[in-house]
Amino acid sequence: MNDIQAAKPLIAALQYKKTSRIPIWLMRQAGRYLPEYRELRAQKNGFLDMAYDPGAACEITMQPIRRFALDAAIIFSDILVVPHALGQDLWFEPGHGPKLGPLSIDDLKPDMIHVKLDPVYQALKNVRNALAQEGFSETALIGFAGSPWTVACYMVDGGGSKDFGKTKTLAYGDPQQFQALIDILVEATSAYLIAQIEAGAEAVQIFDSWAGILDARDFDKWVITPNRRIVEAVKTAYPDIPVIGFPRGAGLKYAHFARETGVYAVGLDQMVDVKWAADTLQGTVTLQGNLDPFALRAGGKALREKALYILDHLSGGPFVFNLGHGVNKETPPSHVQDLVTFVREYI
Ligand code: CP3
Repeated sequence: MNDIQAAKPLIAALQYKKTSRIPIWLMRQAGRYLPEYRELRAQKNGFLDMAYDPGAACEITMQPIRRFALDAAIIFSDILVVPHALGQDLWFEPGHGPKLGPLSIDDLKPDMIHVKLDPVYQALKNVRNALAQEGFSETALIGFAGSPWTVACYMVDGGGSKDFGKTKTLAYGDPQQFQALIDILVEATSAYLIAQIEAGAEAVQIFDSWAGILDARDFDKWVITPNRRIVEAVKTAYPDIPVIGFPRGAGLKYAHFARETGVYAVGLDQMVDVKWAADTLQGTVTLQGNLDPFALRAGGKALREKALYILDHLSGGPFVFNLGHGVNKETPPSHVQDLVTFVREYI
C-alpha cells in the first residue's frame, strides 16, 4: 500500500485508524436520481450497455463525485454481471428490474469470467485516472460484488422476488446442488474482486442484500462461510485492501458476521440500533451506515435529526457515514448536498 492510499480518509477509517474527518459515500450514489445520469441513459441501449462501456461507466461513476466530492467513488456496474459472465442470460426490463434466463449450474463457465468482465476492469482504470486528473486526491475507488447467497437468489429465482422461495427451496431441498452453485460463486467472486483491485480498486464491498431472510443456521452456512472464504482469498492476495461486508437485514447476527468473516468493516442497514452497534461491534470493526434512504429523500429536519443521531452514536470510533441501503430514485440531488455539508460540518 502506498502513502497516497493511506492519506485517503475512507481507507484510513476502513483500516480502523483515526481520520481527519468522517468519510462519507452513499450506496447507489450514481443513478436515476441524477439528471445527468438519465440524460446519458437516454442515449444508450439500457443499463448493461452502459455498464459494459468503460467510457460511460467511468463517466457515470464520476458524476456524483463532481457534484458532491464524496470520499469514495464506487465503480458503476451491478452485482449481476457475475452470473452474466458465468454464462447466464441477463437483461433489465424498464420498471421491472433484472431478469435472468434459465439456470443450468453444470453449464456455468468460471474460466470465462475475466473475458466478459474486462470492461469493468478498464472502467476502474479510467476512474483512477479521472480522479487523479480532476484533483479528487482524497476520493478512494471502491470495487464491489454481490455475495454468493444474494447473487444465487437472483440466479435461481430468475430475478427479484419478495421471498426468494425458489432459492430457499433449492437450498433446503438439494443442499448439495446448492453448495455446488455457492462454490462456483465463491471462486468467481474472489477472482473478480482481486482483478478489480489489480485494476485500481482501493477497497471492495460485498453486497449481501438478502442475508436477512435466512434462519440462524442457514445464515452461518450460506452467508458467513462464503463471505469468509472470499475475505480470506482477497486478504491472501492483498492483505492491506479493506473488505466491507454488508449483510443487510442480519439483525443481531451482525455480531457473529463481524467476528467470523474477517471483514475490515460492516455496512449497517437502517434497522440496526446504532447504540447497540457502537457497544457490540465498533470495538473490533469499522462501522458504515446507516441513514434510512427515505430520510435522505424527505430532506430538511428529518434528514438532519436522523443524521445527527447516527453521528452522535458512531463518530467516537472508526466510522464511515453512508445510507442503510441505496439512494432512492426520487431523491432530490440537493438533499445529498445538504447531507454531505452536514456531515462535513459535524464536530
Ligand atoms: O452504488 C453505486 O452507485 C454503484 C452501482 C450499483 C448498481 N447496482 C447500479 C444499478 C451497485 C453497487 C448495485 C448493487 C446491486 N444491484 C445490488 C446490491 C445492493 C442493493 O440494492 O441491495 C442488487 C440487489 C442489485 C440488483 C439490481 N440491479 C436490481 C434489483 C436492480 C433494479 C432495481 C433498481 O434499483 O433499479 C438493478 C438495476 C440497477 N443497478 C440500476 C443501477 C443504477 C438502475 C438501472 C436503471 O434503470 O438505470
